[in-house]
Amino acid sequence: NWSMAEFRETEIKRVRDQVGDGRVICGLSGGVDSSVVAVLLHEAIGDQLTCVFVDTGMMRMGEAEEVVTLFRDHYNIKLVHVDAQKLFLDKLEGVTDPEQKRKIIGATFIDVFEDEAKKVGGADFLAQGTLYPDVIESVSFIGGPSVTIKSHHNVGGLPERMNMKLVEPLRELFKDEVRALGRELGLPDAFVGRHPFPGPGLAIRIPGEITGDRLDILRKADRIYLDEIRKAGLYDDIWQAFAVLLPVKTVGVMGDERSYEFVCALRAVTSTDGMTADYYDFSHDFLGRTATRIINEVRGINRVVYDITSKPPGTIEWE
Ligand code: XMP
Repeated sequence: NWSMAEFRETEIKRVRDQVGDGRVICGLSGGVDSSVVAVLLHEAIGDQLTCVFVDTGMMRMGEAEEVVTLFRDHYNIKLVHVDAQKLFLDKLEGVTDPEQKRKIIGATFIDVFEDEAKKVGGADFLAQGTLYPDVIESVSFIGGPSVTIKSHHNVGGLPERMNMKLVEPLRELFKDEVRALGRELGLPDAFVGRHPFPGPGLAIRIPGEITGDRLDILRKADRIYLDEIRKAGLYDDIWQAFAVLLPVKTVGVMGDERSYEFVCALRAVTSTDGMTADYYDFSHDFLGRTATRIINEVRGINRVVYDITSKPPGTIEWE
């Protein structure tokens, strides 16, 4: 039974011992795990750490800016911000299969990351936010014992390719402990309490082909939905909430005009580990208000539906 303050000190010392005067590179995603790793390592080894943030273009509204502001401006961490949005969109052009999207995003991410690592002169170590559940279920934490439902990517394969050793300060921790450590390290509550966000991002929240326009439409709807959730004080009661843009057009009326636009599905679930989940029981009032705002404020959407599928048999994401 140890406290997070102790863990922090022990881990800082352990990282210093492991790294010596070597150089460490860390991929920052904006998620809780990599954020905690970055701040912990920065405390331990300062400027021996370089973080690389790859903007895939599959992030939510304002997210890239938030990451840069927090880590570069607030923490003074050496941060390389790579705007790879066009590259990812080009690679995904015409791709509709969910697993194919994941593979392309994973491979492209590794290419970009490797390039950047070389540009900053390489590193001796790669830092990763591997958690204890990832260590014990190294194949896939989503599938049942023998089936992989969805493949997840991380920067696997990179350490060998680039001859780097791994630094994994969170590998003994569960998610709630990582959050506690984040608070201990002074990370803002808004960062520490964030809902999980999948590596492939919005690419798996637009069934079918991804385009820049579709991403923009989805980002606007998602922003309004999360705004409403925060305003209603429900954010912390929910494991994950997000909008999905369905590439299906339906007919509606706007004013006295006929409209023919996409459908937006809203999803929110409760869960303790993502393995099983129940749909969140919003009030109809909340759903009605949110739907009205999305339809009024987002061009390209004229119908909103709420997903009441639990997991199993559904999965949390739509792809
Ligand atoms: P599913 O949709 O399988 O999601 O019920 C369970 C949890 O995993 C996240 N998820 C992913 N995370 N890469 C990730 O890093 C992925 O490809 C991926 N697919 C799903 C999902 O957001 C949920 O938290």
